Amino acid sequence: MSETWVQDCRRQFPGLNRQLNGQPMVFFDGPAGTQVPQRVIDAISRYLTHSNANHGGKFQTSRETDAMFAAANRALADFVGADDPGEIIWGQNMTSLTFSFSRALAREWGPGDEIIVTALDHDANVTPWVMAAQDRGATVHVLDFDRLDGTLDQDAYRRLLSPRTRLVALGCASNATGGVNPVGAMIAQAHAVGAQVFLDAVHYGPHDLIDVRKWNCDFLACSTYKFFGPHLGVLWGRRSELERLTPYKVRPCSEELPWRWMTGTQSYETIAGALACVDYLADLGRQVSEDWQLERRPALAEAMQAIETYEMRLAWRLIEGLQRLDGIRIYGITEPSRTRERFSTVSFTHERVSVPQLNRELAARGICVWGGHYYALEFARRMGLETEGMIRVGLLHYNTEQEVDRFLRELAEIIESALVVEA
Ligand SMILES: Cc1ncc(COP(=O)(O)O)c(C=O)c1O
Repeated sequence: MSETWVQDCRRQFPGLNRQLNGQPMVFFDGPAGTQVPQRVIDAISRYLTHSNANHGGKFQTSRETDAMFAAANRALADFVGADDPGEIIWGQNMTSLTFSFSRALAREWGPGDEIIVTALDHDANVTPWVMAAQDRGATVHVLDFDRLDGTLDQDAYRRLLSPRTRLVALGCASNATGGVNPVGAMIAQAHAVGAQVFLDAVHYGPHDLIDVRKWNCDFLACSTYKFFGPHLGVLWGRRSELERLTPYKVRPCSEELPWRWMTGTQSYETIAGALACVDYLADLGRQVSEDWQLERRPALAEAMQAIETYEMRLAWRLIEGLQRLDGIRIYGITEPSRTRERFSTVSFTHERVSVPQLNRELAARGICVWGGHYYALEFARRMGLETEGMIRVGLLHYNTEQEVDRFLRELAEIIESALVVEA
């Protein structure tokens, strides 16, 4: 039976009540976007009902918009572990933020400069850098991964780094294998040769505590719709760099942080929702620690610790269940002793039943999973999976053991009947 706090959490997510053909739907599609708690929906609705305005005006609703914006920036600074709310930049999504930021960063690159991207990353942390490097005549190196467990090749990384390296674009965790990269050590090595590091924390956000101070990265991007908020992206950067670099912006847009990186009108209603999703997680931390006085950052740390422990219990139940089925291949780490190197995102294929067929039949039974490469394009290519990809099961803290067991049962049935038809 799941912890009481999990049941309390589930009650807060109205989307989890959806049914299909009289059966509860199972939401294992978190890596592509999570459900949201009622307080996020309420915050968006309240903002649009009471405070809807552009920022920077003298009148009441505009002043309320400014106050909400300041509070949201403080919340997101707490979420990523930064001190300075001025370092939080909002945008449409991580991909768009990375494209526009890469253009500004690359203004300083030229022939002879080198950047490193990885073959494990989502393409949103690859192509923006590759295109920016091409524009400036800089060289791109692609860091490879181990074909057996999907971990980045650390020896190759050390060989690629040199005083010519300007930037390393690195994912905190893989949205294809669930593997967690040793970002702290990789950042230290990049800094030792004078390179900067841009982290993609999109897949990391819902599973563990992001910590820009501890990791000592230079820039980091994440998306609130992956951690129980609305469809919105967030970029964090060091103040000194955000002030020094030249953004692409219109002249009347303020030079102050964070505004100079957010040219054009923002989606204030979703920013109000993002504030509410961070507070949802902080309250979860206060609940599991039974300390309702906890400040937001330590409360987030408590929440993420409880979430990770719980999710990994589900993940091992799923992995062991998949391993009991004939013909399944799991991509990524499968040894319980390496539990700290992975999250609860599990991708697999079946040797005889195709990914589209599994995907279709799971969907028909109300089970939301993803089939394909989910933009982890280079991983899929190098694993020979570009055509069909893998089935990805993304487990979150609002999922349950019962859902994992139902998934395994339904999957076994689907495979069995597909093989009977084939025979
Ligand atoms: C690891 C990872 N990075 C980046 C992205 C792109 O994020 P966004 O949809 O906010 O552009 C995704 C989206 O799925 C992702 O999983």
